[in-house]
Amino acid sequence: MTNTSGIQGIEEERVSTLMKRELEAFEAAHPRSRQIHEDADEALLSGVPMNWMTRWPGSHPVFFDRAKGNSLTDVDGNELIDFCLGDTGAMTGHSPDPTVAAARARIAEGITTMLPSEDALPLGREMMRRFGLAHWQFSLSASDANRFSIRLCREVTGRDKVLVFNHCYHGSVDETVAMLKDGEPSFRVGNIGPPVPIGQTTRVVEFNDVEGLARELAHGDVACVLAEPALTNIGIVLPEPGFLDELRRLTTEAGTLLIIDETHTFCCGPGGYTGAHGLSPDMITIGKPIAGGIPTGAYGMTDEMAGRVLSHTVWEAADVGGVGGTLAGNALSMAAARATLEEVLTEEAFEHMIRMGERFESGVQGVIDDSGLDWTVTRLGCRAEYMLGAERPRSGAEAAAAFDTELDALLHLYMLNRGILLTPFHMMALMCPETSEEDVDAHTSVLAEAAEELTA
Ligand SMILES: Cc1ncc(COP(=O)(O)O)c(C=O)c1O
Repeated sequence: MTNTSGIQGIEEERVSTLMKRELEAFEAAHPRSRQIHEDADEALLSGVPMNWMTRWPGSHPVFFDRAKGNSLTDVDGNELIDFCLGDTGAMTGHSPDPTVAAARARIAEGITTMLPSEDALPLGREMMRRFGLAHWQFSLSASDANRFSIRLCREVTGRDKVLVFNHCYHGSVDETVAMLKDGEPSFRVGNIGPPVPIGQTTRVVEFNDVEGLARELAHGDVACVLAEPALTNIGIVLPEPGFLDELRRLTTEAGTLLIIDETHTFCCGPGGYTGAHGLSPDMITIGKPIAGGIPTGAYGMTDEMAGRVLSHTVWEAADVGGVGGTLAGNALSMAAARATLEEVLTEEAFEHMIRMGERFESGVQGVIDDSGLDWTVTRLGCRAEYMLGAERPRSGAEAAAAFDTELDALLHLYMLNRGILLTPFHMMALMCPETSEEDVDAHTSVLAEAAEELTA
């Protein structure tokens, strides 16, 4: 009897035979990466500076040498068209010239001083123009922006819980490393050293579940909902028509604050999903590409929220209250973010990136149609994702159920061996200002080749 892999009817044996062949090709093409990884094992835990870097497909991580625009060259001299773009940290393209110039100038004249630098003013104005909120603060990462925003919401509401959607990802934030298990909040698999049982801090509901949301908010103990306007970390799950309006209405009714995390949905346009779709959250958080990859996060708030925050601020203890960080708001981050927003992630850049996203989407749809595979492709601005399963998922749980680990690993490796770098952990591609039609079409042809081998 033939085993099939998951829901898409591909023979399991075919997947493992192709995987074996691709692993051999990978090893032949990456001897130097392999050597560095082996040597690095002496000095680094797992031979990498951050342990998730081992999660790429292949028998060892690929060490990169240089990256510019959407081109990345590894230490073995293999060139890759980069659709991962540092999982959005490099949505600007790698090392964009204006960001590099501004950072160079700043580095030469003081990186961090504890004093504000003048770049912060035009930067704050630009964040306000794009995202519609008037009061901004800066951190070193999106995780920190989320952490600080949650703290502020707890402080001003006097409530202790946060509500997140099942299979969300908002960074290394204790309250959000949660998922639904048998209808109850549970630790996400792999949650490391959680401080308290997750039910003490967190309520979890499925994305697009208005009833569930109303039910959980009705407890009256939720300080804030922290939400991506479309899930992007379990494949892409789009909001159903009216869901985000209900989210706003229900949170307001419940006295719960709404934080929209634009870290990934910034891909929808210059003002993220919020700007593109006219959302009205109480707070917005963002990070990753806003300073071209130089560590920077930001969180902004409405006038009303700013008033509440200021009335709760104990000025004598503003440096030790749990929101901040010595390097937060440093001059290098401010200079890099200003240049990135003013000169790199411009309206024209987004127009091009979104056009490339559309081309990517229609290329993948063509492959799906021609091959008869039960897959879907979903686009969100200049980001696109293909997912296994005949139907687009409506929730995190549905999206998770459509995953097939072996096939996912094979497709990533297949792409990598043919010069295409996709975001690891799911089949996601992001366009940057340098992504060209030829780059997009190169991906489409490799996918067509893969689909033919999988279904032959
Ligand atoms: C939506 C979202 N928010 C926040 C984060 C955290 O970003 P960082 O790891 O840069 O702190 C991520 C990371 O993937 C993310 O996807």
